[in-house]
Amino acid sequence: MSEEVIAFIGGGNMARSLIGGLIADGQPAASLRIAEPDAERRESLVREFGVQAFEDNATAARGADAVMLAVKPQTLATAVRPLANQLREQQSVVISVAAGVRSADIGRWLGGEDVPVVRAMPNTPALVKTGATALYATPAVNEAQRNLAETLLRAVGMVVWLPDEAQMDAVTALSGSGPAYFFYTMEAMQAAAEAQGLSTETARLLTLETALGAARMALESSEDPATLRRRVSSPGGTTAAAIEALQAGDLAGLYQKALAAAAARAGEIGDDLGAH
Ligand SMILES: NC(=O)c1ccc[n+]([C@@H]2O[C@H](COP(=O)([O-])OP(=O)(O)OC[C@H]3O[C@@H](n4cnc5c(N)ncnc54)[C@H](OP(=O)(O)O)[C@@H]3O)[C@@H](O)[C@H]2O)c1
Repeated sequence: MSEEVIAFIGGGNMARSLIGGLIADGQPAASLRIAEPDAERRESLVREFGVQAFEDNATAARGADAVMLAVKPQTLATAVRPLANQLREQQSVVISVAAGVRSADIGRWLGGEDVPVVRAMPNTPALVKTGATALYATPAVNEAQRNLAETLLRAVGMVVWLPDEAQMDAVTALSGSGPAYFFYTMEAMQAAAEAQGLSTETARLLTLETALGAARMALESSEDPATLRRRVSSPGGTTAAAIEALQAGDLAGLYQKALAAAAARAGEIGDDLGAH
């Protein structure tokens, strides 16, 4: 684990998950500093993880190698503007997990393009250490800072790098919003199983375990999901009958539309958040 000092601006759900993951991975508690306005939340972070917590953002960020921005997207500009001079002097890398906020806007709020900014798009399973995060680094980010950002986000799941920040809208549509698509599918499968006569509890458990098992098999297999699907769909069999019904309803076409709608909305939200 890194010996660098890491400051979190905002000590809410995402910060708590990252801190928990980092401590579990062996990051020394003394290297983690959190700024959080809520006294109760500060005390709970100190009690649970032994980290240092401050009411004031500038104090928490003092001397930090990395400053992790973990406030709501709407409050990011207000939170970071007062830190502009300090972060430039310290040459801290700024890592933002705020959904939709573009690195150029963060750079602008911090006083210029030369501020090293890493933008991260984690998803909610990060709260249970199975997140999927995409990262993008501005040209001002050096190799050591890239590695540090990657280490931090890997504490809550897997990480991929994007060569182009414009791809963040597609990532938001896929993995950012994606957990909800799977929840919706689980909801629909459970309801359909109940309609076939299973009890709510049995339908729920079998749905969730099937989702987990399918995801694990797909991750551990060298075959792609289409091959795995064909393998369990013998001609004239039960799975083939179900897949035919899904194809007749154009499930693949619906996903094309759903992701396009989400990506377009991500772009609009980015425009709104940057208009400060
Ligand atoms: N949760 C996820 O799984 C997830 C996934 C992807 C991205 N994200 C991103 O992660 C960021 C944080 O989300 P979250 O779920 O952790 O939100 P959260 O639980 O609301 O945490 C934000 C924390 O920041 C504090 N805060 C507000 N203004 C502040 C300021 N000016 N300076 C310092 N701290 C301030 C808030 O305190 P008060 O409540 O007292 O205002 C709150 O404790 C968001 O930008 C979100 O887009 C989260």
